[in-house]
Amino acid sequence: MMIYVIFAITAYMLGSIPSALLVGKVGYNLDIREYGSGNLGATNTFRILGIKAGLIVTVADILKGTLAAALPVLFGTTADPLIIGLFAVLGHTYPLFAKFKGGKAVATSGGVILAVSPLLFAIMVLSFLLILKITKYVSLSSMVTGIVAVISSAILQHVGLIIITSVLTLFVIYRHRTNIKRILNKTEPKITWM
Ligand code: G3P
Repeated sequence: MMIYVIFAITAYMLGSIPSALLVGKVGYNLDIREYGSGNLGATNTFRILGIKAGLIVTVADILKGTLAAALPVLFGTTADPLIIGLFAVLGHTYPLFAKFKGGKAVATSGGVILAVSPLLFAIMVLSFLLILKITKYVSLSSMVTGIVAVISSAILQHVGLIIITSVLTLFVIYRHRTNIKRILNKTEPKITWM
């Protein structure tokens, strides 16, 4: 039991590392929370700081989830990687190191999935890019990809993944409620580079 608590706290701390804030402050001397959507995530980093910074934040946010979910295996225990990974997603979304105002859970959730099923992660990346190509909305692509992940987990007949992708997808949709309003109002920004 104690090991679960230690992993959960470590995963939360890992998730709490605010990559977008760090990249903005260290590399560009600006606080990304004061620009664009104000969100501490990869999308807002791409939007404000460009491709290089956006890619760094994307990879860092994914790796936070992957590393957290890998902790049980790295330390040779039977703790569930998906449950430990959830704490990294919570850290990313409500970060201890950024006044509990973080991102919208997409990249770090993907990282947790990557640790457990690279196949499902690959399906999610393809789904995300395809929907983005069609709709040009990052937020919509993130939410629909969550639903694709749930359906794919069911097809793969992986009970743990079905449960975790369902929980994460509901959480991702909850975190995107302002984006949903903007999509309905037709004020959500579309990407222009794809
Ligand atoms: O899916 C994440 C993203 O779409 C939300 O970012 O900055 O557009 O609110 P933002």
